[in-house]
Amino acid sequence: MAKSRLVQKDLISNVSHELRTPVSILKAQLENLADGIDKPTPALFEQMLDTTNQMSDLIEFFLDLSRLQEGKQFLNLSVFKIGDYLEECISSLTYLTRAKNIQFIIDVQPADLSIMADKNRLRQIVINLVTNAIKYSLGTSKIIIQVLQDGKNNLIRFIDFGPGIPKKTRKKLFARFTRGDISQQGGTGLGLAISQWAATLHKGKLDILDSKEGAIFELKFPKNF
Ligand SMILES: Nc1ncnc2c1ncn2[C@@H]1O[C@H](COP(=O)(O)OP(=O)(O)O)[C@@H](O)[C@H]1O
Ligand SMILES: [Mg+2]
Repeated sequence: MAKSRLVQKDLISNVSHELRTPVSILKAQLENLADGIDKPTPALFEQMLDTTNQMSDLIEFFLDLSRLQEGKQFLNLSVFKIGDYLEECISSLTYLTRAKNIQFIIDVQPADLSIMADKNRLRQIVINLVTNAIKYSLGTSKIIIQVLQDGKNNLIRFIDFGPGIPKKTRKKLFARFTRGDISQQGGTGLGLAISQWAATLHKGKLDILDSKEGAIFELKFPKNF
C-alpha cells in the first residue's frame, strides 16, 4: 500500500479508537440511568459532561486537521482577556485531570492582559499542548502556563516537569504523524503539527525551549497583525 494510504488508514483507525472510548462510556452511563440502575446525581451528570467535552475536543481536533489539509488561511480575530480565556480552556479538560490531582498555574503578566488572536485556533494549541503536558509528564503534578509580552510579540509558554524532550528529536516532532520516544496508545502524532499550523496562521511560531527540567513549549506571535 502507498505510504499516504497507510497513513490515512492509521489515522482513521486512531480516530475511531479515540472516539470509541468516550462514546461507550457515555452509552453505558445513559443505559444505567434509563434502566434505573444509577440515580441521576449531579456527580454523574458532571462525569457525563466530562465525557461529552472529551468528544467535542476530539471533533474540534479533526476539524482543524481537515482545515490544515485544505490549507485554509482564514483567521477570526478578536481581543480578549487571556487569563480568563485560559481558565476556560483548562476547565474543559477535567476529564483528563480529575483522577490525577494536577495543579495548573496560570501566570499572566500583567494579570489583566488582553491579546488579539483567533480564539478557536488558539484553543486548539492550548488543548493540544496541555493534553501533551498531562500525558507525557508521567505523574508529575504541576503545569504552568505563562503569558507575557516582549516588544512586538505575545509569548505563551507551557511548562511541565516530566522527562522533557531531547534536543535532537525536537524538530521532527512538529511533522505530521511523528511521535517521540515517549508515546502512549491512541495518539495520532498530529497534535504538534496542528498547533504549529495554528501558530503560523497567527504569523507566529511554536518552539521547544531549553530547560533544566521537563518540557517548555513557547508560542510566539505578533501583538498586531
Ligand atoms: N510535554 C511533553 N513532554 C515530553 N514529550 C512530549 C511532550 N509533548 C509532546 N511530546 C512528544 O512529542 C510527540 C508528538 O506529540 P503530538 O504531535 O501531540 O502527538 P501525540 O501526542 O499524538 O503522540 C509525542 O508522541 C511525545 O513523544
Ligand atoms: Mg498530542
